[in-house]
Amino acid sequence: MKIYATDLTAKKERGEKITMLTAYDYPTAKILDEAGIDAILVGDSLGMAVYGDENTLNVTVDDIIRHTKAVTKGAKKSLVIADMPFCSYQISPEEAAQNAARLVREGGAQAVKLEGGSEFAEAIKLILKCQIPVMGHLGLTPQSVYKFGGYKMQGKNADDADRIIKEAKLLEKLGVFSIVLECVPDTLAKKIMEELSIPVIGIGAGSNCDGQVQVINDILGLTENLPRHAKKYADIAEEIQKAVAGYKKDVMGVKVYADN
Ligand code: KIV
Repeated sequence: MKIYATDLTAKKERGEKITMLTAYDYPTAKILDEAGIDAILVGDSLGMAVYGDENTLNVTVDDIIRHTKAVTKGAKKSLVIADMPFCSYQISPEEAAQNAARLVREGGAQAVKLEGGSEFAEAIKLILKCQIPVMGHLGLTPQSVYKFGGYKMQGKNADDADRIIKEAKLLEKLGVFSIVLECVPDTLAKKIMEELSIPVIGIGAGSNCDGQVQVINDILGLTENLPRHAKKYADIAEEIQKAVAGYKKDVMGVKVYADN
């Protein structure tokens, strides 16, 4: 059965953990879908994972649409969430709603995710008015890397922790169906998870969350500098190296003779 945004809330109510991973292409999405992953995020981590960029800031709405199209073909059951890239929702609520609609209409996404809280309340309201489910993202929001001065843990001091709690509550009030909480202390994640009735999906936020999300390249061993919060479950880079070496050996071993 197809999973929708509302099913994630039902999972939290039942006390069941939510599994979420990123994917950017058809074959990976198909594997995650068949493995029973609840939600697939076509994240703007696409920039680093697929395009070799330094950060997420060069990813465009067209990029996310192209990859979301591929992912939705492979994901028959998993909920597909498309990330709203840098400056696709920050400029005006109208532009935000138009871009969210493109991700749904052209990409086939069943929900969108955007970073930040109160500063984008009007954008979130308008996207929700278009009947598009919205996932929030608080804590370390990678599109703010220049403002933060790097990828740093957020919510470490009491004031910052209070600010994140307030933002999480506001997002819930606005009607987002779930929140990604990235790189915050475990204790803060636990508090937010307990105080909200919508699911809190953690990444680098400890195990006291309603679910976890990771970047697929990280867990498969395709990332050169593995983030501290990620665990390598396979070494696919090594497997590819072995396969390519075997292929190369076979090709080089075949002698080619001229006909005459
Ligand atoms: O873009 C992405 O992959 C994300 C996850 C890290 C949550 O936003």
